[in-house]
Parts: sequence; C-alpha cells; structure tokens
Amino acid sequence: MDRPIGVFDSGVGGLTVLRALAHELPDEDLLYLGDTARVPYGTRSPETVIKYAQRVAAHMWSSGIKALVVACNTATAHALPTLQASGEALGIPVVGVVEPGVEAATKATVTGRVAVAGTEGTIRSRRYQDALERRGLEPVGVACPLFVSLAEEGWTDGEVPRLVAEAYLGGLREGPDTLILGCTHYPLLTSAIASVLPDVRLVDSASATAQVVARELEARGLIAESPGGTTRFLVTDNLDRFVRVGERFLGQRPEHVELVDLPAPHGPFAGTPS
Ligand code: DGL
Repeated sequence: MDRPIGVFDSGVGGLTVLRALAHELPDEDLLYLGDTARVPYGTRSPETVIKYAQRVAAHMWSSGIKALVVACNTATAHALPTLQASGEALGIPVVGVVEPGVEAATKATVTGRVAVAGTEGTIRSRRYQDALERRGLEPVGVACPLFVSLAEEGWTDGEVPRLVAEAYLGGLREGPDTLILGCTHYPLLTSAIASVLPDVRLVDSASATAQVVARELEARGLIAESPGGTTRFLVTDNLDRFVRVGERFLGQRPEHVELVDLPAPHGPFAGTPS
C-alpha cells in the first residue's frame, strides 16, 4: 500500500497548498493535519512554533508518512531546519513553502525589487528576505496580520479588505514589481491586494511548492504506484469550524475529518496532577 504525504499547517490555511498538491499529484494519498488547537502560529515566538511543529511532525511520522510538507509559512520560517534535520535522520524529505515561493519570485521579477507579505513571525524571522538577498534581489517585508482574520471570516471582497490592503501595502506603490503572498491565507485576498497594487506581480507559493514535492518524490523513487489518491484530514480542535471555514480554502468541503490529540510533551510537568 502507498504511504501518504503528510501536509501540515496551523489550521485551515495550508489547504491552499493541499489543493495545489492534489492537482499536481492526483495519484498520491494525502494526510493533512490542521493544528487548530494551537492556531495562530503567526504571532508566537520561534521557540513555541518549533515546539508545536515538532509535535505535529512526530504525530504524522507515527501515521506512516513518506514525505512531510510544511504548508505553513510561519512554521517553515521558524522550524524548517529543525524538521529537515529529523527528516534526514528518518529518511523522509521535508519541504517548506519559503524556498519555492522565493524561486517563483526570482523568475517573476524584472527590476529585482521583491516584497513579501506575511505574518508577524514570518516577517520578523527574515527567512524570505534573507533568501531573496542570497539571490541578489532587494527585498522588503511587510507584516499583514489582519489578512488572516479577513480570509477566515470570508471577508475577501469589497471595501473593508481593500482598505486594509491599502493600509498595509499602499506604501509599496512605485516600489517592488513582485509581491510574494507569504502566508497561506493571502491568496484568498488576491483581488483586494491586486486592486491596491495593480502593476505588481503576485506570487503564490502553493503551486511552486507542489512542483518541488513532485520533484523530490521522483528523485527518491517515492511516487505512488496505484492510481487515484485519497485525502484524509486531522484536526486538533474544533472540527466543525475547520470543515466550515476550510471549504473556502480547499474549494470543496473537506471530507473524512478526524479529531486527534497530539502526543504529550515529555518531562516532569507532562504528567496528570495528583
Ligand atoms: N498558516 C499561517 C502562515 O502561513 C497563517 C495562520 C497562523 O498565523 O497560524 O503563516
């Protein structure tokens, strides 16, 4: 039997990446985990995000995955090197969303000035900015925290998202020619963002990430043998909300959703109080 590809995010956002993966690799089984008990990751410290990501990865590994996709920009920004080191020891590829997004932006830019919009944590980590600088590009990072709530509320068109986009991104007019949507939620706000920056190319890392995953599987001989992939979903809290809000991100209602508890951390405080 084929082993699934594990895909995880802090909540519903990574469903934009899952959708691209299902499109690129229709024969692969996909196992998605939304860490809805601990969302949002975007405002938390790097140490906390690393801890959360390790717990999720440990659970997915015990579910028998053959590859892990970190479909959350904040988790990629803080935890990818740690997760990749474990993945290497276990012999599974671990792919994040930052490098594929940077690659796509490098191809898209003409002037070499590239902006990245993301959560506070992603922008503060400078993962995108450093990766762009390594390619000789001129980066500018902008944190747009309210976009996450707008996307989850379904408030993606009209005056309110346009005003919020103007407040965050209006200052980039006549600046960069390319903007990386460096957060899982921002592709849902494409029309509001494009109305503020009509001449800027918007880069969404989801499909670029799916292509990198396809290449990794191919290179390691891990492509599914039987046709027709299935998708299962795990959430750590609030299953009903995940299904309701997730539908907008996935483009269809998530089916086969299960509530799970992640393994408890080890150490003296992990036991039940007596
Ligand atoms: N998934 C997160 C990201 O792409 C956004 C939501 C959160 O803050 O957890 O950065």
